[in-house]
Amino acid sequence: MTIAQLWAKKAEGKKISMITTYDATFASLVDAAGIDMILVGDSLGNVMQGGSSTLGVTVDDVIYHARCVMRGCSSPFVVVDMPFGSYQVSDEDGVRNGIRILKETGAHAVKLEGGSRVLGVVRRLVDAGVPVMGHLGLTPQSVNVLSGYRVQGKGDDAETLYNDALALAQAGAFSLVLECVPRDLAKRVQDALDIPVVGIGAGPDTAGQVLVLQDCLGMTAAKKPKFVRKFASLAETITDALRQYAAEVEAGTFPSDSESYH
Ligand code: KIV
Repeated sequence: MTIAQLWAKKAEGKKISMITTYDATFASLVDAAGIDMILVGDSLGNVMQGGSSTLGVTVDDVIYHARCVMRGCSSPFVVVDMPFGSYQVSDEDGVRNGIRILKETGAHAVKLEGGSRVLGVVRRLVDAGVPVMGHLGLTPQSVNVLSGYRVQGKGDDAETLYNDALALAQAGAFSLVLECVPRDLAKRVQDALDIPVVGIGAGPDTAGQVLVLQDCLGMTAAKKPKFVRKFASLAETITDALRQYAAEVEAGTFPSDSESYH
């Protein structure tokens, strides 16, 4: 999958699927399922590292996980999150880190959060040959400024978000994530843009959808946000299988003779 193919899908009115992935095993399953895009999200700070936010994730962390993902898949377009602190201090930092991420992982693009304040670094990354996906709405790296994880783009904020989306596209972003915004606003943004908007908690009218893999597969115990649909209940399936394994080990029925070397 390439940017040109993603744009063609959008132009033809075909929906784009994207899912977060952090390791080679799942990357190969995502590839086999024919999903268009993988996001090596800084949500790895929550789902892989067990943290309460994404703020502690480092450039080394995303590079490690992106390398694992790239070894497991060949077809999806792979985007890697630029973590908190890797592009906020200076545009130079952002360009250096963005280049490093693509160079050391073989991934295809980076994603970064924010509107008007990141336009400079978006332009410079694109100029340097690093495709950039924007991210507006609920931007988890700003959780402390936003006072928690809540729906964004309501009231006067809607106009700011709309203008930020247009400005990001103008600055060269090839696509945009819109997280946790009212459906009507997401539609208004998508209707105004040629680039595909990939929504999460943004309703059905964007060109694409993204979910966190563990939410999509029902692997997390946390309370399910309204916008998440569990397409499987793997937490139960996995726990049952592991209980069975432990029981058979304890009973001495695993391994059997046929599972032993002679
Ligand atoms: O880090 C992540 O998983 C994300 C998605 C929620 C869009 O940014």
